[in-house]
Amino acid sequence: MDREQEAIELLKSYNQNHIVNLLKKLDGVKKQELLDQIDRIDFQQIMELYDNTKKEIEIKENKIEAISYLDKAKLSKEQREKFDKLGKDIIRSGKYAVVTMAGGQGTRLGHDGPKGTFKLDVYGKGKYLFEILKDNLAEANEKYNTVIPWYIMTSKENNKATVDFLEKHNYFGYPKEAVTIFTQSELPLVDTEGKLLISKDMKIKEASDGNGGTYSSLRASGALADMKDKGIKWVFIGGVDNVLLKMADVTLLGMAIEKKVQIASKSVVKANPHEKVGVFCKMNGHPKVIEYAELPEKMAEEVDSDGELKYGESHIMCNLYTIEAIEKASKEPLIYHSAFKKNSYIDEDGKEVIPEEPNSYKFESFIFDAFEFFDDIAILRGKREDDFAPVKNKEGVDSPKTAKELYEKFWNRQNKKV
Ligand code: UD1
Repeated sequence: MDREQEAIELLKSYNQNHIVNLLKKLDGVKKQELLDQIDRIDFQQIMELYDNTKKEIEIKENKIEAISYLDKAKLSKEQREKFDKLGKDIIRSGKYAVVTMAGGQGTRLGHDGPKGTFKLDVYGKGKYLFEILKDNLAEANEKYNTVIPWYIMTSKENNKATVDFLEKHNYFGYPKEAVTIFTQSELPLVDTEGKLLISKDMKIKEASDGNGGTYSSLRASGALADMKDKGIKWVFIGGVDNVLLKMADVTLLGMAIEKKVQIASKSVVKANPHEKVGVFCKMNGHPKVIEYAELPEKMAEEVDSDGELKYGESHIMCNLYTIEAIEKASKEPLIYHSAFKKNSYIDEDGKEVIPEEPNSYKFESFIFDAFEFFDDIAILRGKREDDFAPVKNKEGVDSPKTAKELYEKFWNRQNKKV
């Protein structure tokens, strides 16, 4: 059987006759590209993910408990000095690397382009999100007399735009040889009948498979091997959109070392029970984050004997790992969460359809779903005004306006010129 015939049989067995029709219509390079894509896609996996969207969520007998943490502001002087020294030693000796997850687009923000290329109107001139991250790393480099290797994860959709942008701005002065850009993987989008969507360029329409793909993409891209070659022992993974993110917090790092854990994370107290953040807990004895969309109302509102939210430690995407933990997470499959969204597609007549209502499922894994592979996590509670000012929405909460205010207030408090 030739390659095309094999692909047709496969597509038919998964009920994808519309792709068979498309394949028959194409020729030359376009046909080869579609055949390559069909070879690469794991149809069995996609159909399982689609079938799961039809199932009731299984209510397992999970034992859920509040997570323990240390409050950075309440550490004793000795404790703080001990942690800071341990952390500083690692960074100074070049054993620390940083990963920025920048696969997301600025859609919710109304920004046309990679989120890191959004310019926040601070101090008159404004600063791009990538520039703000670079400032934070450059400050650490100066303090600890090193150059922290910086790995930036893009998506297939925004890789070119990100690289062009960073080149154009000369990496905002960050040593270019210390920056590695790698791309995350994608999964097809599936409609309510289990049919894979077709994109404008006559391919199967795919989208980024969520920030949980960071671990496997670090491995597949060779970035993990590169870290090992460089002798990296600790890896920080953070988001692109928090303008107060501290990517080289020596207290967090030292605390993780002292507690002999493989993973650590900075949290802030949840602003209110319904803030759109994931929250830490322990599930069946393992660390876990429950994402805001999946947190039952009762749990969100539960308070402890001090009147504090029982599940109030927010996940602010400020996560730290040993290199062994990254390796382990890169080999274990993460669960996929499905999101029902509006996605345009090409119909059987070759016309583009732009739906007004959600029409298809996007499958995403989440970075924190790897936490449960570990026995413990060290959590350091930071301060919202020092650590968390996300830019998510065009207006209202977590908008450029709120982030600008928090950013400027923070830097005014530091009495520093930026
Ligand atoms: C995220 C967290 C949430 C946390 C909140 C804090 C996840 C799944 N959720 O929510 O627990 O409380 O931030 O601000 O992490 N990204 C990629 N590739 C993808 C998808 C996302 O690189 O395929 C990156 C984005 O560029 C961004 C980060 O991951 O840096 C977070 O993504 P987003 O989908 O915006 O998560 P939130 O809903 O903001």
